[in-house]
Amino acid sequence: MTDPVTETPVTTASTTPSARPAPRPGEDTEQLRTRVAGLLERSRARSAVLTDIDERELTTQHSPLMSPLVWDLAHIGSQEELWLVRDVGGREPLRPEIDGLYDAFQHTRSSRVELPLLTPSEARTYVGEVREKALDALGSSPLRGRRLEHEAFAFGMIVQHEQQHDETMLATHQLRAGAPLLHAPAPPRPPMSPGGDHAVPLGAAEVLVPGGPFTQGTSTEPWALDNERPAHVVDVPAFVIDTYPVTNGQYAEFVDAGGYDDPRYWTERGWAHVREQGLVAPLFWQRDASGAWWRRRFGVVEQIVPDEPVVHVTFHEAQAFARWSGKRLPTEVEWEKAARFDPATGRSRRYPWGDDEPTDSHANLDQRHLQPAPVGAYPRGASALGVHQMIGDVWEWCDSGWHPYPGFEMFPYPEYSEVFFGGDYAVLRGGSFGTDASAIRTTFRNWDHPVRRQIFSGIRLARDPRPSERGA
Ligand code: AVJ
Ligand code: FE
Repeated sequence: MTDPVTETPVTTASTTPSARPAPRPGEDTEQLRTRVAGLLERSRARSAVLTDIDERELTTQHSPLMSPLVWDLAHIGSQEELWLVRDVGGREPLRPEIDGLYDAFQHTRSSRVELPLLTPSEARTYVGEVREKALDALGSSPLRGRRLEHEAFAFGMIVQHEQQHDETMLATHQLRAGAPLLHAPAPPRPPMSPGGDHAVPLGAAEVLVPGGPFTQGTSTEPWALDNERPAHVVDVPAFVIDTYPVTNGQYAEFVDAGGYDDPRYWTERGWAHVREQGLVAPLFWQRDASGAWWRRRFGVVEQIVPDEPVVHVTFHEAQAFARWSGKRLPTEVEWEKAARFDPATGRSRRYPWGDDEPTDSHANLDQRHLQPAPVGAYPRGASALGVHQMIGDVWEWCDSGWHPYPGFEMFPYPEYSEVFFGGDYAVLRGGSFGTDASAIRTTFRNWDHPVRRQIFSGIRLARDPRPSERGA
């Protein structure tokens, strides 16, 4: 059932052009062009930070889970060429002979290093040439009419694609050995209470989400991808969700209590996986002689920060932690309702805090900080229901598989979402510190294999309400 009417109507909140991720109805075409150009430039600046490194670092296979960074760079150009230069621009291929090399379906990540890939300097030249022609296409497209071009959809899709690969490249950086190459300031601490600093923020630890109809997905967000559509009403029974993501301190308690040695907390599959792989803690964690936990983060070994959201856990670890806690993971629709349902109006918001685009004070995004922020650090980013840090910091595993919404229509190509439906995947929501604002929304859906943890994945817990809470 499609009911886009109950989505929050978009406003005309004004922010700087390059910070606005999606077009707004009635926006002047020239303004839209300027803004798209700014977003393309911003994604390329991010790609440059991640790839302006030693030639060997770019061509090495840092992990069998990841492509060499130089593959991601040329693949970014290849997708941009396909959609913006050839399709929207109607131009001939720049280098038809390389198409196959950068088709993600033709070669596994671990085999790409063996291919006759463009060298780093060839790849930089290639993406630069593609970009010039893509900007020509931006100048000549009416950005109206044809669905692919309407409200610059193809451009928005390509901006998001580059930013997604930038997050993937950031994960490759985290996996590489050796001295640090990336640096960023520490994220903000939670605002101080009148009584002074506090490691754990004040405020309720849980939020009761009332049962009833909720509009999931979107039919109005111009740059939403096919899998986020259409808006449809789901009756979601009441549930309770944690105000904050699970922290390193909480997760360390589970580890120290023998959580990885007790099959009672694990599903059969999860238990088989931790045993086979010998998992004993989140990826990148290590214990010192005194028993304290340290972690490697972008080439630096440091003590874990207890009130920072835990990151680099598999779906199985998230589930086991939940069971140990006497709770469960939220389903995907529960996650989305906690993030965007406004109980005062019954409508679904664009972002947890409302319709305004994300800023530095709403969420930890854009690779501004190379770690999650302590819980409570973004009070302005809380949802209408009072749930914090739903956007940014860490992707949150949901207890839902990867399936289409009712009324799903593939657009513009099946290899983005459709071919993965029904596969061995769990949904992740909300984005991480490595996600760009242009590539995240409350409706945005990510997915990965339940055993993956090189991604910036974390945990938020939920539970069923007790009978006494239901009436509240
Ligand atoms: C949506 C993050 C699962 O990286 O596999 C990039 C995004 N699709 N290029 C992925 C994507 C094609 C995708 N995820
Ligand atoms: Fe891709």
